[in-house]
Order: sequence, then C-alpha cells, then structure tokens
Amino acid sequence: MIEKNHMATYAVIGDPIDHSLSPNIHSAAFRELNLEHSYIAYRIPKGELEEGIEALKKIKIAGFNVTIPHKVEMMKFLDKTDESCSIIGAVNTVTNDNGTLKGYNTDMDGFLDPIKKKEIQIKGRKILLLGAGGAARAIVAGFAKEHAASITIANRTLENAKKLAMFSEQVGLKSKYVKIDEVGGTAKDYDIIVNATSVGLKNEPSPISLEGISSNTIVYDIIYMPMNTDFLKKAKEKGAKIIFGYEMLLGQAVRAFEIWHGMEAPYNAMKRALLGGV
Ligand code: ATR
Repeated sequence: MIEKNHMATYAVIGDPIDHSLSPNIHSAAFRELNLEHSYIAYRIPKGELEEGIEALKKIKIAGFNVTIPHKVEMMKFLDKTDESCSIIGAVNTVTNDNGTLKGYNTDMDGFLDPIKKKEIQIKGRKILLLGAGGAARAIVAGFAKEHAASITIANRTLENAKKLAMFSEQVGLKSKYVKIDEVGGTAKDYDIIVNATSVGLKNEPSPISLEGISSNTIVYDIIYMPMNTDFLKKAKEKGAKIIFGYEMLLGQAVRAFEIWHGMEAPYNAMKRALLGGV
C-alpha cells in the first residue's frame, strides 16, 4: 500500500482534450471534501502515448483517466489489469502505485449507474444498441452482466456490428446485428434503446426513427454535449423515459474517484459541477 499523498496530481489524457469536463467534476469533488489534490487535462496526440505516459510517471501522477483516442492502445502500457478492463479490452482509469500502472474500465459501471438509480430492470429486456465502437463494447458487457434477454446491434458498418455481436455471444448475451439504416420502424419492438454512435455530437438528427415507441420505452443517449440531442428530444415527444449522457459521464467519474481515493464520492457536488459548468 502506498502512503497517501495529500497533494496528489491526477489527469485526463486524450486528444482533443480542452473541452473535457473531467477536470471540473474531479476538482469539485476535491473542494467538497477539502482535499488538496489537483486534476489536469493533458493533451497526448495519437502516436505519442508512450512518451506521454513517461512524462506522467516523472511527475509522479497518482492516477489518470484515458479518453479518445487512447482507450485501447493504453492497454499495452499497463502492468496490471482489473477484470473490467480485460473483458472490455479498453481502459479509461489508471492508478499509479510507485510506477506500477493498473488499468480499470469504469464505463460499464458508469453506464449502468443511472439505470440502477432509476430502478429500471434490465433482466429479461430486449435491447436495441446503435453503434459498435469502444463505448458500445462496454455497454454490451453491462447488458450481459445484468442478464438482458437479447441485444440487436445496429451500426453503419455491418462488419463492426458483427464483431460486437460475436463479443456479445462470448459474454453470454443473445445478439443480432443489422445496418443502422435498416432499423426502419422496428424501434417499437424494444424495451431499451441506446445511442452509442457519435451521431448527435454536431446536432445531427436522430440516427433512427423512434416511431411507435411508448411511455414504457427507455431511451438512453451516451452523448452528453449537447445534453438534449435530437434523439432524446424525439423520445421525449413520444413520452418515453429518457436517460441523459451526462448521467453516464457522472457515473464513470464517481467510480474512478472511488478507485483512486478509496472513499465514497460526493455525487451531488460532482453533478452540480457538471450541470452548472463551474
Ligand atoms: P466511441 O469510443 O465513442 O465508441 P468510436 O469507437 O469511434 O467511438 O465509435 C463511433 C461509433 O459511431 C461507431 O459505431 C460508428 O460507426 P462505424 O462503425 O460505421 O464507424 C458510429 N458513427 C460515426 N459516425 C457515424 C455516422 N455519420 N452515421 C452513423 N454512425 C456513425
């Protein structure tokens, strides 16, 4: 066990990184608990990850978050991996214990967190997942863990959907895959619909039609900026229960905080920082 440093430095690495909300969220938590730590955003371009990590070790970084484009490549630089990270094959949270780096993936727990808080049952439910990238993989692992009945993966590139469907079967979740433009009017056949594509980041229209869904449908967008995507607006119009992307962001940050600091995270202070943009 390392001696706890009272003025430790944490970071988020990625590229682009200047719009990351993680420094706000974690700094708010430190203020709330009177901790003297700091949390910085550090831009590491693609291809420069190894040098970047050496630099972080030199400043004795206590821990860091990893975001696009390094979540998968970072796996190579870990000394230890938590199960969450080895199953998903990507890392978003790292601890540094005197130069020994251990990786975790808090995206899955972060994704599940708002569903659990709202007491929504996943077990036995039919899922439609849009997208087949890194985030979608953590989501599939989450639905498998919670025993959903089946998942349909809809993606622009069918080959990526097929790969993710195979992963789903490996982790015990029955799956199908389709091209996203072939979803047509089938959204109403599902209990939970999740957008894990990047469609909406630039205010694009919803990637699928939500015709026929009802107040029993759960619609979850993992995009948090903008908060009200067209996908969620359309879902709201139909009276569906919606879950915002910021709720997942908050969930993964809370989990990372608890891994690093071994204490309960100040959820409300972190939420205020996120929504108030403090
Ligand atoms: P993340 O780590 O956030 O999951 P990613 O791995 O780059 O990011 O995945 C982005 C997802 O958005 C993919 O499913 C991608 O589809 P492809 O597999 O076809 O690339 C999807 N996506 C990106 N732009 C899209 C678009 N214009 N229309 C539909 N899907 C799109």
